[in-house]
Amino acid sequence: MSIAVRSFAKINIGLKIGPLREDGFHELRTLYQTVAVSDVIRVEVGRGVGIEVYSKDPRVPRDETNTCWRVADRVLRSLKTRGKVRIAIDKNLPVQGGLGAASSNAVATMLALEKALKRRLPPEERLRIAAEVGSDLPLFLIGGTVLGTGRGEQVYAVEDLPSFHCVLATPEVGVSTPVAFAEWDKKWPAKVAGAKPSTKLTGPDSSDRINMFSQTIYEWLNGSSFTPTGVPSKGWDRAEALLLDLVRTGIENDFESVVFPRYPAVREVKRALERSGAQYVSLSGSGSTVYGLFADQESAAKAAKILNDTGIPAQATVTLPRERYWKEMFS
Ligand code: C5P
Repeated sequence: MSIAVRSFAKINIGLKIGPLREDGFHELRTLYQTVAVSDVIRVEVGRGVGIEVYSKDPRVPRDETNTCWRVADRVLRSLKTRGKVRIAIDKNLPVQGGLGAASSNAVATMLALEKALKRRLPPEERLRIAAEVGSDLPLFLIGGTVLGTGRGEQVYAVEDLPSFHCVLATPEVGVSTPVAFAEWDKKWPAKVAGAKPSTKLTGPDSSDRINMFSQTIYEWLNGSSFTPTGVPSKGWDRAEALLLDLVRTGIENDFESVVFPRYPAVREVKRALERSGAQYVSLSGSGSTVYGLFADQESAAKAAKILNDTGIPAQATVTLPRERYWKEMFS
């Protein structure tokens, strides 16, 4: 029997890059938010052994470099079971688009494989496998609005944001995340090169910068449009008030400062979304997807049309709160 699971995308609302750590990863802080666009993962387990990955999209690797393959291998080993696992990926999300597609595909594979085997991994084992395969996997074990710390793999469910209308615009360039991090290190060489060896990887400046993240998020969620209890004032609905405050508090994605100079087309997409009436526009992850948040469905649909008409692939969607994320994953 084949088990089908929807594999949703994420966007990042704010992303602060901190110090380069001893293990080669960067400390970071971000707010992940799942969105209602997806790939579909189908998993089948038959007699025999081995893992096979299929996709019509030639950009999807079929071998053990595929995150789905790597997760399936670990799930089989953890459950001490064998079988011939076939994973089919119906691709709709961009590859190297900053929407976490490969990570989401891998988590969907884990959940589908558990179902196909009629076995369940303990939650801590799911999380361990997810974090081992990539920094962006664990968030998809929570869904909705998720705080990410550490290298992004330490995840905490936070109170869901209301559903926002949103437009995802993906210019036809793929941005490599490790390359974007390397560019970041080049951009801030003084902090790394100038420090003594013992403090080289933990320069105070970048630590301070990421610690500001909680302050800005707090400021945003308790902004001037709210009373201290979180109830919107001035008669705005919550989503609208939050959008206004998101801009006011200046929550940004650090990757923009290295990705935009290298890929001016991506900066142009941000400008196009701003012109099309988005209330808040940001790069997602290391890109190349830029998203815009809108006050209503009509303006989001109109903006997506304007972008498509000018040759920028764009789609209107909504952000996906946790309950809907889990409900729609298996529907
Ligand atoms: O964890 P993931 O496989 O997504 O990371 C890919 C690469 O991105 C890492 O090998 C590292 O070079 C870079 N990275 C980083 N800091 C992070 C996450 C990723 O430097 N927090």
